[in-house]
Amino acid sequence: MNENAIEGTAAPPVAVPPASVAPAIVAAADHAARHWHGPAGKLPLGSDAHKAAVCAMFRDTFNPYKPSVIDWPKLTPDARARLVSLPIWDIAVQTEGKARLRMASYAETCGDAEWCAAIGQNAWEEGRHKEVLSNLVTAYGIELVPEPEYIKPRDTEWAYLVTGYSECIDSFFAFGLFEMAKRSGFFPAELVDTFEPVIQEEGRHILLFANWLAWHRRNLPLWRRPWFELRVLAVWVFLAWERIGLARGMEAETEKPQDNNFTLNGSKAVSDTDLSPVELMKVCLEENDRRFAGYDERLLRPTTTPSLARVFVRLSGMVERLRGSVRRG
Ligand SMILES: [Fe+2]
Ligand SMILES: [Fe+2]
Repeated sequence: MNENAIEGTAAPPVAVPPASVAPAIVAAADHAARHWHGPAGKLPLGSDAHKAAVCAMFRDTFNPYKPSVIDWPKLTPDARARLVSLPIWDIAVQTEGKARLRMASYAETCGDAEWCAAIGQNAWEEGRHKEVLSNLVTAYGIELVPEPEYIKPRDTEWAYLVTGYSECIDSFFAFGLFEMAKRSGFFPAELVDTFEPVIQEEGRHILLFANWLAWHRRNLPLWRRPWFELRVLAVWVFLAWERIGLARGMEAETEKPQDNNFTLNGSKAVSDTDLSPVELMKVCLEENDRRFAGYDERLLRPTTTPSLARVFVRLSGMVERLRGSVRRG
């Protein structure tokens, strides 16, 4: 069996090095995963050059870490208890499993060799995230409910859109929560460091998705564009519906309630700082900018979630100032 194969997906396009790699090689791969600039020149969105640059970015920034060699640090009883009690493990493992299958399915059907390769690699990386999480829960004795059967989507474009937009929302908040966890010392630095490449990888995934979307929109025949935009709107409605908890309410009650919205409201679970939603949003925005700073500025960044966050921060500031003047007056 191919030792690089994860969860039935094809091997990654870049060779994964053997288990014992020198720290300098790991550091170089980590740096390469965060920085990428294409050849000089214009890169109009939707052009062949745009597609080639996005796919090259995704290939060149592949980080060849191997989940099986991660050395899980020993935790104090307190840190372990905090980790075990996070209401996310089942949903996190299942989300990665679903994302892998949905991306792999779209990669099989998208009809463009370059995009298929990049999105197929993205699927493989989701399988690797699932393996990292599975190893973590085993290492710390976290019990999971049995995983559901992962069902291949029939409408692969819809499934990719839902997964991509969902990752755009979750990654934005995960960037901030991860930074809060780092600052708080709630978990040992070695454990936080273990997840650093996974979080950066999610940044690369949404960078790929945002640019695929921009390219795809511009390359659709005019007559298909209104239908596509309606589907995008429907995806947002679906995600909003899911995130306000209707989906959770419709699921059968389980012994271990999981939090679909953990990335939006999990700051207290990863940090002892009582951060207001506005402050958390500011951390998310800073981290969002920092994580994308190393990639070619001609590539499009995900914009919707950060824009909504900026509006929220601005509105909260206006409300605060208004309250201040009412108090003074
Ligand atoms: Fe993932
Ligand atoms: Fe991802």
